[in-house]
Amino acid sequence: MICKSKIRRGQSPYGERGSVFSRIERNIGKFSIFAATKPAIMRKEQFICPYTLYENLDELEPRDAELMRLAHEATKNAYAPYSKFHVGAAVRLANGAIVTGNNIENAAYPSGLCAERVAMFAAMAQYPGVAFEALAVTAHSATKLIAEPVAPCGACRQVMVEVEQVSKQPLKVLCQGETGPVMVFDGIESLMPFIFLDKFL
Ligand code: THU
Repeated sequence: MICKSKIRRGQSPYGERGSVFSRIERNIGKFSIFAATKPAIMRKEQFICPYTLYENLDELEPRDAELMRLAHEATKNAYAPYSKFHVGAAVRLANGAIVTGNNIENAAYPSGLCAERVAMFAAMAQYPGVAFEALAVTAHSATKLIAEPVAPCGACRQVMVEVEQVSKQPLKVLCQGETGPVMVFDGIESLMPFIFLDKFL
């Protein structure tokens, strides 16, 4: 393992989960409604995104290394004639099943789909109600060697949020390039701060 890292954004007087919203709630208790809509003091806040960085696949626990190996395999199925960016994903479920996915592009670009969502949706279709444990993602490019971890796009992260909620357990997300270090996130919140949740609906 190379290190356990943290991304820091600003500083929070209210700890990790501090936000404009928590500040407003506090102000409602202390001050008038008018004060609640206009906080008296502007503050810098922080959100900590912890992850673990492994030097290579051999450092991962064997079942995670195997999941990533299958994600690499899945890049071979990518249909990516436009980007030539071949993404592979593999999902491990609580019943031990593994479902893979790859990106599938389309001449009408937005009609394509990312590898992660192909894998997650296929897993939900094949194993409805079974919890997700982990998701590995990697990419191979036809034009260059990708030697750093490939991070999932925002839309895939939003789907991971839902998957984690339904699974009622943290979703482990592993990211790697074609080669090189592996970033491991123990739960989607580290990848997706200030999540949009169904509680807002
Ligand atoms: N892509 C994925 O499959 N996953 C991501 O998280 C980001 C991007 C695909 C979509 C498209 O086929 C290609 O990579 C280039 O964006």
